[in-house]
Amino acid sequence: MKSSRIPRFYQLSPEERLKHVAEFAELTPEEVELLKKHGGLDLSVASRMIENVIGTFGLPLGIATNFLINGKDYLIPMVIEEPSVVAAASNAARMMREGGGIFSISTAPVMIGQVQVVGIKDIEGAKFDVLKVKDEILKIANEKDPVLVGLGGGAKDLEVRVINSPEGPMLIVHLLVDVRDAMGANAVNTMAEAVAPYISQITGGKVYLRIISNLADKRLVRAKAIVPKDAIGGEEVAKGIVYAWAFAAADPYRAATHNKGIMNGVDAVVIATGNDWRAVEAGAHAYAARNGRYEPLSKWELDERGDLVGTLEMPLALGIVGGATKTNPLARLCLKILGVKTASELAEVVGAVGLAQNLAALRALAAEGIQKGHMSLHAKNIAVMAGAVGDEVDKVAELMVKDGVIRLDKAIEILQKLRGSA
Ligand code: MEV
Repeated sequence: MKSSRIPRFYQLSPEERLKHVAEFAELTPEEVELLKKHGGLDLSVASRMIENVIGTFGLPLGIATNFLINGKDYLIPMVIEEPSVVAAASNAARMMREGGGIFSISTAPVMIGQVQVVGIKDIEGAKFDVLKVKDEILKIANEKDPVLVGLGGGAKDLEVRVINSPEGPMLIVHLLVDVRDAMGANAVNTMAEAVAPYISQITGGKVYLRIISNLADKRLVRAKAIVPKDAIGGEEVAKGIVYAWAFAAADPYRAATHNKGIMNGVDAVVIATGNDWRAVEAGAHAYAARNGRYEPLSKWELDERGDLVGTLEMPLALGIVGGATKTNPLARLCLKILGVKTASELAEVVGAVGLAQNLAALRALAAEGIQKGHMSLHAKNIAVMAGAVGDEVDKVAELMVKDGVIRLDKAIEILQKLRGSA
């Protein structure tokens, strides 16, 4: 069986790394060439994706190693500008492997379409009337997407809510749509628009908005990992991680940063696979606040052996068909590297990466602090800014880290000395 455990992957050159990945994911020579093109997105394709295009914008694509999820090895493509994130994810995944890896489950890919109805006098009566014709409404919705229905998806159920708004009571109809392998916005919005006239007729109210909800709380991912305390650096570190979680559970200021750490991992894969990261972000934070206070999306506790148990629960509306997942050739390639067969599998992988990323951050915070890891990459960036090339980059960075001074003037000074003594 293929293993994602590739020791010293970080020490290889990008070309050598690509060779490993190509072998793992059975990439064709054309696909390898596409990755070497640095961006892989032609202007003509970009021009069809959005309006007023003048170019394309590059970001680093890294691979996180060591991931074992539901007993299967994955190499994780991550697109992100922040140093340390990919290394941290790989590191945490290695520790989680020692406890058997990460386990991840998901609900059916059900998205919510909202239809807003206003101007109803007998609103509870209207709620009854809508529920009474549920089957008719679902039929109208499903007529809009026979392909989705053929795949086992489609509008499955209806919920009707009465909400009190600053403009008075409103009837909100939720159309629950199983979107299968799509992110779902197109299918859901089309269906919401299709059922609106009938709902207006039934209720006698006026329909305004007909749109998907990004609070995708019917499309949840749950991930769990047990990390042996020795893998994490001992009892004290494990305890520190639990305290870090408790801090986030009690304080929204900390919870925001805690969840930001989770989203470092989540977004990087969401972007790599061409998915809508704003939708995922909106859903994650709305879900974090569902109990009336902003809370962490993960939990960390100790089991009876003193090992660390991490769980994560969040909505993840991701697709593997349609949109940029298809039009952007690099997104297609990243999906191939992941080897996911369904949108649900992709969501399960992304949830697992979020949990690993969270562990990495909390471990660093509970042990040596976050800056140490950041500093060596930061130092390399400063060395490049100072004009270092080739081997000089590592040498200048190392000397700056050793002296504990990472500044441009220091990098220039070290570089001059190095070149003087050469
Ligand atoms: C930095 O991008 C993310 C962290 O701040 C997350 C956290 O504090 O848990 C390290």
